[in-house]
Order: sequence, then C-alpha cells, then structure tokens
Amino acid sequence: MTQLLPVLPTVDEHHVDGRRYPHGVAFMDGQYLPMSEAKISVLDWGFLHSDATYDTVHVWNGRFFRLDLHLDRFFGGVERLRMKLPYDRKKIESILAACVALSGHKSAYVEMICTRGSSPAFSRDPRQAENRFMAFAIPFGSVANKEQLERGLHVAISETVRIPPKSIDPAIKNYHWLDLVKGLFDAYDVGAETALILDTNGHIAEGPGFNVFVVKDGSLKTPAFGVLPGITRRTVFDLCAEMGLSATAVDVSRAEIKGADEVFITSTAGGIMPVTRIDDTAIADGQVGSVTRRLKDLYWRKHDDPAWSTAVSYP
Ligand SMILES: Cc1ncc(COP(=O)(O)O)c(C=O)c1O
Repeated sequence: MTQLLPVLPTVDEHHVDGRRYPHGVAFMDGQYLPMSEAKISVLDWGFLHSDATYDTVHVWNGRFFRLDLHLDRFFGGVERLRMKLPYDRKKIESILAACVALSGHKSAYVEMICTRGSSPAFSRDPRQAENRFMAFAIPFGSVANKEQLERGLHVAISETVRIPPKSIDPAIKNYHWLDLVKGLFDAYDVGAETALILDTNGHIAEGPGFNVFVVKDGSLKTPAFGVLPGITRRTVFDLCAEMGLSATAVDVSRAEIKGADEVFITSTAGGIMPVTRIDDTAIADGQVGSVTRRLKDLYWRKHDDPAWSTAVSYP
C-alpha cells in the first residue's frame, strides 16, 4: 500500500494570501486594517452556518445615506439572533465613519457584520460563542451597470422559492443566499441579467440583493411577504408620499409584473434601477418609464439633504 504522506508538510506560522481585494479599510478586533488583512476564522459560525447578520449602507459624495435606518435594522437583527455587540450604537457609527474616512472613498459600500463567532473549545452551544463585530468600506458598487441603468435590466423569473419567513425572519438581514444565487444562475441560463424568485405562495418575492416595484396606472406595488424590508424600498414609500403617489405592499403575481406599465428594483447597491424586460416580455413599450425616472432623480437629490444624510469627516 502506498503511504498517503511520505513526507509531512510543515505548518506555516502565518497565512500568506496572494489574492487581490478592492481598495478599502476594515475594522475587526479593535484594529483598522487594509481589506487584504481582514480575515475571519474558518471556525466562525458566521462562515460555517451563515449564523450572522449584517447591514449595508452607502456613502455618496462623502455622506452616509439614511444611516439611522440601517443601524436600526442591524441592531434589530442582532437582538433577534440573541447576539451581543461589543460596542454601542455611537461607537459603531464612529467605526463606520472611520472606515470610510481612512479609505478615502467619497462613494462607498459600507458593511457592518455581527457573526456568532466561536468558542475556544468549538462548543456546539451557540450561547458559548463569542460574537464578533466587523465592518468595512470599499468602493460603491451597483446591481446594475451604467448601460443597464440607462436602458433597463432584463430580469428572468426563476422557479426557485425564497427561504420561507417561518424558517428565517427576512427582517433579519442575512447571508442565506443559496436560493438567490440559484435564481441568478437560472437567469444567466436563459440569457437574462438578473433574477426574481418567488415566495412560498408562488408570488414574486425579491432578487439577489434587491426588492422590486411595479407601477400600474400611476400606483405602485411591492411584494409584502417573505422579503427583506429594504431601506431603499422604504425610501421609495417616503418619496411616493412626497410626490403624491400611492404605494402599497401587497402580493404581486407574475401576470401583474409582466403586465405593469413600469418595473424597477431597489437596493442600497445601486438605488432605484429600471427593469424593461421580464423573461420574453417587454415591459410596456420596453423603455424606462417616467415614474421610475422621477423617483430615481429625487432619490439621488435626497443624498445631499441633511435630513436624509450624514457627512463623513475626511482627513
Ligand atoms: C435579499 C435582499 N433583498 C432586498 C435588499 C435591498 O435592501 P436595501 O434597500 O436595504 O439595500 C437586499 C440588500 O442587500 C437584500 O439582500
């Protein structure tokens, strides 16, 4: 029989990582680090079991957009998962601002994460794990690129069902993305650019990192059930109130979305993004609609408004 290991490899003292990462600054264990140094243990339950919650806020022209709402959602998730953060809200705000200021990015994608962590003896009891907080700021990224934002996205509806709210409360922003990633591959297989997946009743739910809205006869609808209550989705409700448009959260069927006058998706990663084609159906005349354009313009204008945004002090 051949020996499996005729010569034992040596154990290196430190990990050397030759990969490249986007430019940015991360915070973990009380230290600010370049992105290439921000690593978690393979024993962290956040990695092994997706036992984590997070939030993503963006910075645009040097200002956080609706940071308070993102912090509310993050702290809500941490509490519901029975985790404990080592820092209070003020400190977390200052850590996020420091990551952005140190990165120098005027437009940034800023993520805060709390993982279950692990215990020294790798106990299977989650109560014994030491929860971990980390954060990072990297350049702003968008679900849709410039060309897609101008002409509207081509979306495919996948048969994949989003994880039911009775399994995972969608209000806890989480990394349970296997359904969403499957939806994306289903979409790529039919030549579309991104996906919408279904709720447990066969209605439209959400997509990989975004909520969806339909516009019909000047009124807006967005799925109510089994979706993350997105901050951009909430912002659309606020903008609609200001613009005198009606917007409601209700079930949205496939027929309704395909028969809509306009469709758009919403995410911190890109804002309000038009959809002009679903499966083989063009939405109305296949052009970006006027309600979507007006909402998108107002959304970006709000980014300089001190009532909706907070300045970062750069060195
Ligand atoms: C599953 C899911 N739905 C919706 C959204 C949109 O939420 P928000 O507008 O807060 O970015 C996200 C954002 O990452 C998401 O992951």
